[in-house]
Amino acid sequence: YGAAVTGEYVAAIDQGTTSSRCIVFDRAGEIVSVAQREHRQIFPRPGWVEHDAEEIWANVEHVVREALRAAGTDAAGLAAVGITNQRETTVVWDRATGRPVANAIVWQDTRTGELLRELDQAYGEQRFRERTGLPLATYFAGPKLRWLLENVDGLRARAEAGEVLFGTMDSWLIWKLTGRHVTDVTNASRTMLMNLATLQWDPELLDAMGVPAAMLPEIRSSAEVYATATGVLAGVPVASALGDQQAALFGQACFQPGEAKCTYGTGSFLLLNTGTSAVTSAHGLLTTVAYRIAEEPPAYALEGAIAVTGALVQWLRDNLGLISTAPEVEELAGTVEDNGGCYVVPAFSGLFAPHWRSDARGVIAGLTGYITKGHLARAVLEASAWQTREVVDAMNADSDVALRRLRVDGGMTANGLLMQFLADVLDVPVVRSRITETTCLGAAYAAGLAVGFWPDLATLRSHWRSDAEWAPRMDPAHRDRELRNWRKAVQRTLDWVD
Ligand code: G3P
Repeated sequence: YGAAVTGEYVAAIDQGTTSSRCIVFDRAGEIVSVAQREHRQIFPRPGWVEHDAEEIWANVEHVVREALRAAGTDAAGLAAVGITNQRETTVVWDRATGRPVANAIVWQDTRTGELLRELDQAYGEQRFRERTGLPLATYFAGPKLRWLLENVDGLRARAEAGEVLFGTMDSWLIWKLTGRHVTDVTNASRTMLMNLATLQWDPELLDAMGVPAAMLPEIRSSAEVYATATGVLAGVPVASALGDQQAALFGQACFQPGEAKCTYGTGSFLLLNTGTSAVTSAHGLLTTVAYRIAEEPPAYALEGAIAVTGALVQWLRDNLGLISTAPEVEELAGTVEDNGGCYVVPAFSGLFAPHWRSDARGVIAGLTGYITKGHLARAVLEASAWQTREVVDAMNADSDVALRRLRVDGGMTANGLLMQFLADVLDVPVVRSRITETTCLGAAYAAGLAVGFWPDLATLRSHWRSDAEWAPRMDPAHRDRELRNWRKAVQRTLDWVD
């Protein structure tokens, strides 16, 4: 890479589902400062979830300023900035005014269920899957974009005329920072519009989805200088973009085929690096781009995407009021010995991997008069572990080598009760990385590589440390019994079809 680098820090912006944050890292990969701000979750109807992209941009500017101030530096102190983001969330904005034409449609939103049935009939799920590595599901950006084109007055004509632009959150932020309309391969791989083999927009897919090419960003690698920022980051090279889960894989230094991590945030996402080959799943996993550094060959991943884990704890807090802060769930769950026979399956956005059933709806199963809020809290935590077990089983079924240990990160990994239960139900050791902010770290790493702030992957790997490990200790007969009960509860959500 080798360019002359100025600036002693690299910053990362993580535009997530519930909040935006900015973290400043030093050359050792250590956190110097963090700033974070939540944005509104807009629920106009059951199953619909929206964000205000303008609000998000204002929050990003705010957290960047705060993080720089807390680090005692300014834009001149940064060698580069990297972007990472909630994936699939879809924004369309006016090229001339920079204003979004509607609220962003969030990845969790299920409004495109009907549209998917039409796409399946017209083009065929299998053909989409072969080209994109993705099943037809409400999760991905392409159908959300098609929905906007069909439902916002006059939008299709304006899109064809090149007056409006489409982007996932990475594109939106890079455009706001630099005026350039680009995305990276990892984010593009979640649209159902990019061909996984060519890493370009696929004309046949655009046609099938009814998306005008004129509104699409240019697809670039995950680590290269896209442009220099103006405004709050004036003069700083914007040098990486990665979907947040791919960024976490990168931040966990999973650079070798066979290395995997699971991140526990709003949802949970287990990614296995499969090297330069795009492996097709026969068990409900996604094939996706892990990262691409400049002109090097891309690395691919198999992904088990779980829509709701941390969001279930938030639901316990915000919708049921059983706790007042998310970390309290551990204390409440600790008031009881076990789940008391209660299971919560949070199919709030349907079920993602490995089921891919947009029409599934959540259940609380096994209720008796014995169940207390402690049992419910426990069942809420256990749901994260059981859902992980389902994707690990799928991954083991897809690959010849069984997963032998799992690297974890994300906010929920602070919860020791959950981490022990996770090791118990997976029956493999669970290892937490010392820096749990791996999403930002991965984006910073990619940006730092792009500008020569860090020389190579080996240097980044040498930063990695674990700070805690949990060994499985559950009696196998007990585990099997609980797994059977979990599966029965999952079956109830699949039976719950309108
Ligand atoms: O695919 C959705 C994922 O990128 C969201 O991640 O951490 O914002 O819940 P998070």
